[in-house]
Amino acid sequence: MDSLNVMPNVMRIEGGVPLEGTVRAQGAKNAALPVMAACLLLKDGTLTLENVPDLQDVRTMVELLETLGVRVEKDPEGQTRFCVPEEVGFEAPEAQVRKMRASSLVLGPLLARCGQAALPLPGGCSIGSRPIDLHLKGLVQMGAKIEIRNGVVYAQADRLRGRRIYLDFPSVGATENLMMAAALAHGETIIENIAREPEIDNLASVLGSMGVPIEIEGTGCVRIKGIEEVHCGKERVIPDRIEACTYLLAGVMTGGQVTVTDVIPAHFDAMLAKLEEAGARFSVYRDSVTVSPVKRLQSLSLRTMPFPGFPTDLQPQMVAALSLAGGVSMVEESVFQARFLYVEELNRMGANISIRGNTAVISGVRQLQGTSVKATDLRAGAALILAGLAAEGETRVGEMIHVWRGYEAIDEKLRSLGARVGLVPEEAK
Ligand code: EPZ
Repeated sequence: MDSLNVMPNVMRIEGGVPLEGTVRAQGAKNAALPVMAACLLLKDGTLTLENVPDLQDVRTMVELLETLGVRVEKDPEGQTRFCVPEEVGFEAPEAQVRKMRASSLVLGPLLARCGQAALPLPGGCSIGSRPIDLHLKGLVQMGAKIEIRNGVVYAQADRLRGRRIYLDFPSVGATENLMMAAALAHGETIIENIAREPEIDNLASVLGSMGVPIEIEGTGCVRIKGIEEVHCGKERVIPDRIEACTYLLAGVMTGGQVTVTDVIPAHFDAMLAKLEEAGARFSVYRDSVTVSPVKRLQSLSLRTMPFPGFPTDLQPQMVAALSLAGGVSMVEESVFQARFLYVEELNRMGANISIRGNTAVISGVRQLQGTSVKATDLRAGAALILAGLAAEGETRVGEMIHVWRGYEAIDEKLRSLGARVGLVPEEAK
């Protein structure tokens, strides 16, 4: 884990090599972060998690938890234990919150178990403003007093009260924060219009393993009976569906044959449906998917939606793939305000994409050209790496710091598939 801190910031890619082989999906970043925060519900207890990925964002959450007093131990069998004392701090440290928006997921558990919490407002990021108004509105409905002073949220509640909450938008983070808060509330909480991402189910399993009576109903509703105290829990982090699909697209874009194992195919049905519509060839097995070479994808239209719709976290990678498809594709981003910053970088590689409102209009080209580009966020970085793998010549992807947040050992995994990639020191300014 220590090496992550000094990972090089530029990836050099020699494009045009059809990828061949098998990679294993990592534990899901977006499942690991909330379930790690859930350990704060414990008083003098341990949460044991399997399959926690080795990522920068995981490291940031570990730092945050350790600052609050949690002891984190990783054992040789690949389990990570979160040992939580009777007393923990209730103030989330600014350093980690500013580095990673998911730090806001400690608000619900801290408020529930300490009766108070202080959280610096997480900043926006390059994909849009990222408010937490839905998180705060739900906590107020559960009886919390919320005050924002000098950019810090101060929350206070002797004991939260269970109640019926309707989410105006199926926000993943708000769903997760309120589920954790409800675990120790007095009475039953019913949250309606919840996010349906698989990561929510993973959190529900972790809370269940800690003794919380919780039930997710098919209607997009979750019922949680608050208890006095949670007990030690144990659960496995689900596979990362976004990372897995990124490697499948690497296979498709380079005209190779790539298998991703340790996945749950049902977690990325929408992606497989769109790949099929675009003419990609793939086989689905119980816990793996294999893509096979096809001449050229056909154009299509898609709109990103909350799960089970097409995931916004695969939008940049799919736009990169469609930049080489025959015809004109339309990709509408409906979840975030501004998730097309990377398009300019793709156009510098010879793509022909224009942005109209929140829609990318992609006129497919025959070939991309390697050049130097910069990642603007995690998934944008992944899209540029995919473009570099397919492009003619050499591509240098800068600002890899974004990519290390969510892609474990991506250079090694790509090399194991035959890609000609290397990490180079920061380019001379
Ligand atoms: C989670 O972010 C993921 N992050 C994101 O993945 C993912 O893109 C997003 O869900 C949508 O699937 C983690 O799980 C750590 P939201 P989150 O609350 O919880 C607005 C990646 O690349 N909103 O569902 O922040 C918000 O501005 C990252 O791995 C409010 O307006 O997403 C956005 O437009 C990027 N008020 C939309 O809802 C709120 O209180 C979706 O946000 C909360 C959200």
